[in-house]
Amino acid sequence: MHKDTTVVLSKTMISAGSSVLAALSEDGLKISGALKVVDGMSGNAVSLAVKNGFKAEKGELKMLYPAGKLHAVLLLGLGKRAELKQDQFIDGVADGAKAARSAGITELHVLADSFGVKDSIRGITLGSMLGTHRFMKYKTKDLAKVKNLGKITIMVEDPAKQQKAFDEAKIVADAVKKTRDMVNTPPNVAGTEEVAQYAKKIAAENRLKCTLLEEKDMEKLGMGCITAVGKGSAAKPKIAILEYNGGAGKPVLLVGKGVTFDSGGYNLKPTNYINNMKDDKAGAITMLHVIEAVARLGVKANVVAAVALAENMVSGMAYRPDDILKAYNGMTVEVTNTDAEGRLVLADTLAYSVEKHKPQAVVDIATLTGATMIALGHFTTPIVGTDEKLIGQLKEAADATGEKVWQLPLWEEYGEAMKSDVADLKNSTDGPDAGVITGAMFLKNFVGEAPWAHLDIGTTVWSKADKGAKQKGATGVCVRTLIEFVKNWK
Ligand code: BES
Ligand code: MN
Ligand code: ZN
Repeated sequence: MHKDTTVVLSKTMISAGSSVLAALSEDGLKISGALKVVDGMSGNAVSLAVKNGFKAEKGELKMLYPAGKLHAVLLLGLGKRAELKQDQFIDGVADGAKAARSAGITELHVLADSFGVKDSIRGITLGSMLGTHRFMKYKTKDLAKVKNLGKITIMVEDPAKQQKAFDEAKIVADAVKKTRDMVNTPPNVAGTEEVAQYAKKIAAENRLKCTLLEEKDMEKLGMGCITAVGKGSAAKPKIAILEYNGGAGKPVLLVGKGVTFDSGGYNLKPTNYINNMKDDKAGAITMLHVIEAVARLGVKANVVAAVALAENMVSGMAYRPDDILKAYNGMTVEVTNTDAEGRLVLADTLAYSVEKHKPQAVVDIATLTGATMIALGHFTTPIVGTDEKLIGQLKEAADATGEKVWQLPLWEEYGEAMKSDVADLKNSTDGPDAGVITGAMFLKNFVGEAPWAHLDIGTTVWSKADKGAKQKGATGVCVRTLIEFVKNWK
């Protein structure tokens, strides 16, 4: 079986035969400290590289096979340290680790002290762990031929001083990796029941309270929306609620869309659009790993994660266009498009969990719309909400982790498009205009008075390329932002 790269922290020790990743910056291209030792052990390979044109531009990567005692020296350029963004730094380390792996290196020593940037241990740890992570569970052939970087040792002068930063970064990176793995897991393996069991396991392992609402419970409670979406599938809809008690006062409520496969329902998705709809559970999977990481970090806050699980399929039992549903909060919804199912599963989950937990703030995350791509492209997640302070806190958290979110407006006027002729609301608009915002406007009807923010990861959930810390496949986007947000919650 394939094994992920192990990442450890240790005291700087550069021994003969090792392969070293070191950083240089445009701030003077100084070769000092441990890097000087590396230079000395490698027949001045580092000085020669600089002399022969290595400029340490941002992201510049040079693999050297020096004469002397070391096997390889990989130089990473940081550009100007003061201008380097956290994500660029993480991507640089990730690309360095990947280059080492492609070159057949099986153990890499990272000279952390050569980086000299803010939060460098965090960045190196994240870059190392996320950059090398691969989803290999279903590969059975020729595994022995797959190049594997077995171990990355992050070397620092004083490991004791960096241990906490390292341990924290590892918890965060694990959360992202597990999110990617689970989102990548196919819909015939990760259905609603399996994800619910997965949630239970996370709860048990981290001493979280876990409540599972089954279809019958939801019907009794009057959740006409999520139950309708789930009707067409043999996999029954569920809501899993995890509670972490780490502080005092009302909780922060985290809600996630977990559609384990979105065929579109009777508004069936065409070829090329239906593929990959296993990623429609990403919001739920994200929130499960955020609350897990928050518990593992021992954050001093109360947090509730409520995840809405359903599969959107076609059958004689499936809900249809023209159906009118009654949501948990009593509002009626005309189904104008069965493919706008995410807002329906969230409607009941939001209304119920807001009423039940009376949160100080609500954040939901969902692969809600394809319109995210038109609005902001591949790497920026739109954020909207009712509370500028809450949105500000999320933006700050995103900035700190190097993830990109951008606020769109939620002006009342956009609500017009969600009005139905025959019910209180319809679930989809007549045209494609402002799809991210109108989707959010729909959700706004179900969050009550609590400050609320919504992240639409419809596009950012997935990466088409192996680049930097991202792999082809699920990205685990916003896991880091949300952990950071809860960590800083006051
Ligand atoms: N899960 C999709 C959104 C999506 C589409 C995510 C493509 C990732 C890639 C969602 O349920 C959906 O189908 N949304 C519709 C909404 C429309 C019918 C109002 C969309 O975006 O087309
Ligand atoms: Mn859909
Ligand atoms: Zn969907």
